[in-house]
Amino acid sequence: MARRRKIKSINYSRPMLLFILCSLQIYIIIVLYLIFSHSIPLTTIFSDIQSDVNIKQMKTILLWVNNRFFPLDLFSGGTDMFKASNCSYQNCYVVKNATEFPEMSHEEYDAIIFNGCPRQNLSSDATATPLIRRPSQRYIFFQLEPPTKVPVCDILYENFFNWTVTYRFDSTIFWPFFLVKDVNNRTIGPGLNMNWINPEEMLSIDEDLAAKLRKKKKIAAWLVSNCWNFENDRVEYVHYLQQALKRYNEVVDIIGFCGNYKCPMTHMKQCEEILENDYAFYLAFENSFAQNYVTEKVLRGLQHYMIPIVYGGVNYSRFLPPGSYIDALQLGPEKLAALMHKVGHDENEYFRYFKWRNHYSFVDNVNKSTAACELCSKLNEDTETSVYTEFRKWWNHPSMNCSEINGSNDY
Ligand SMILES: *[C@@H]1O[C@H](CO)[C@@H](O)[C@H](O)[C@H]1NC(C)=O
Ligand SMILES: *[C@@H]1O[C@H](CO)[C@@H](O)[C@H](O)[C@H]1NC(C)=O
Ligand SMILES: *[C@@H]1O[C@H](CO)[C@@H](O)[C@H](O)[C@H]1NC(C)=O
Ligand SMILES: *[C@@H]1O[C@H](CO)[C@@H](O)[C@H](O)[C@H]1NC(C)=O
Ligand SMILES: *[C@@H]1O[C@H](CO)[C@@H](O)[C@H](O)[C@H]1NC(C)=O
Ligand SMILES: *[C@@H]1O[C@H](CO)[C@@H](O)[C@H](O)[C@H]1NC(C)=O
Ligand SMILES: *[C@@H]1O[C@H](CO)[C@@H](O)[C@H](O)[C@H]1NC(C)=O
Ligand SMILES: *[C@@H]1O[C@H](CO)[C@@H](O)[C@H](O)[C@H]1NC(C)=O
Ligand SMILES: *[C@@H]1O[C@H](CO)[C@@H](O)[C@H](O)[C@H]1NC(C)=O
Repeated sequence: MARRRKIKSINYSRPMLLFILCSLQIYIIIVLYLIFSHSIPLTTIFSDIQSDVNIKQMKTILLWVNNRFFPLDLFSGGTDMFKASNCSYQNCYVVKNATEFPEMSHEEYDAIIFNGCPRQNLSSDATATPLIRRPSQRYIFFQLEPPTKVPVCDILYENFFNWTVTYRFDSTIFWPFFLVKDVNNRTIGPGLNMNWINPEEMLSIDEDLAAKLRKKKKIAAWLVSNCWNFENDRVEYVHYLQQALKRYNEVVDIIGFCGNYKCPMTHMKQCEEILENDYAFYLAFENSFAQNYVTEKVLRGLQHYMIPIVYGGVNYSRFLPPGSYIDALQLGPEKLAALMHKVGHDENEYFRYFKWRNHYSFVDNVNKSTAACELCSKLNEDTETSVYTEFRKWWNHPSMNCSEINGSNDY
């Protein structure tokens, strides 16, 4: 209606109007063809996007297989995720499957992301890597699983990756599972050198929080889905902890497939409410020991008012403020049981573990793609050449023996 009135008001002649309508129709058909045809050159679409966001050049990023698996499943195609995250550069375009743009050859992409998930390890068979490589391209190792789960053993990957995106501090782009914020909401960690406030100088908790914490009636919970993973002996550890706790008449409630309690994923909110109201401690046990590998598990404790008991192959002072957690590996099951019993029944001692709340907060970063923004910025700004010459040594766990896992499906 509005369009017609507009055309009328400009007072076009009748043949002119027909001409315009016809052209419009043809234009629409062409656009529809472009949208639904899969074999259009990428550049055609890009020119649209370019005019859209007024950016001269698109940086193209290809996901090399495994796009359905975490963390590559977090990528949405095109420029979406850069726009959604309000990145400073939004001129990056993600192609999730090269078959979407058959006219674009692999070596034309600015970056190719490899992840090598357990289901399809990085191997040297013909389909595993692109055939032709342009020197200015960036090959990126992108992985949020630890090397114990996703080892990279093939010699092909020496001198192969230009950049890495992982949870490790020394990655080209650091993607931690959670962020630590200060009172001003500034991201301050995790990191190699943390300047935590001394627990003695932290403010005491307020009366509302004290009242909430006083209501707890159970000692500890462990929410665990995988109880067959003996990679870092966490199941054994909990077994010994239960033995040690018997002396104090305490028990860790195990929630999940292998425990006495169940919590269907669909009811996670309700379960977390119960955890928050009833339990004093929460076991945040990682399933692998790996450098800098601390997952968002620990947040369930921190954010739901339980003291996290942590177990992992890292120095936790780089992740959590002092006095906010208990390190199970440092203590061993006997001492841990004694400490849990003591702190769990001494109000003043217990409250002290929550003082950090006056100074810090934590946010889940698993699905957040500030790393995607960094990636796009780097593709725009970084002109340096770089390569991981001894990638396998950098990535794989020192105790790992590649010659044993080579060709094995059992990660
Ligand atoms: C890419 O798309 C092709 C054709 O639709 C499909 O056969 C292939 O499995 C896809 N690859 C991935 C990694 O999804
Ligand atoms: C996006 O970032 C710009 C500056 O970088 C800021 O001015 C703007 O408010 C942000 N928009 C949103 C929706 O966060
Ligand atoms: C911190 O930032 C988050 C989102 O960026 C916001 O939801 C929250 O209200 C902020 N908190 C404070 C204390 O400013
Ligand atoms: C952990 O890191 C802190 C600070 O970075 C350091 O003071 C401490 O000695 C480290 N602990 C171990 C066991 O390496
Ligand atoms: C992250 O995304 C996955 C799906 O990709 C979803 O299952 C999960 O709940 C999300 N986590 C958070 C903290 O939003
Ligand atoms: C990426 O790594 C390859 C292989 O070592 C190298 O030839 C190339 O120059 C590197 N490119 C950049 C842009 O760093
Ligand atoms: C790795 O495993 C192979 C085969 O089992 C063995 O011959 C080799 O000595 C092992 N190397 C190390 C460093 O453990
Ligand atoms: C490891 O894999 C490579 C090919 O990827 C193969 O040539 C080599 O023989 C394998 N080594 C062992 C010990 O299986
Ligand atoms: C991993 O790679 C090896 C050869 O490098 C191959 O034999 C094996 O089947 C691969 N495993 C999976 C799960 O694809």
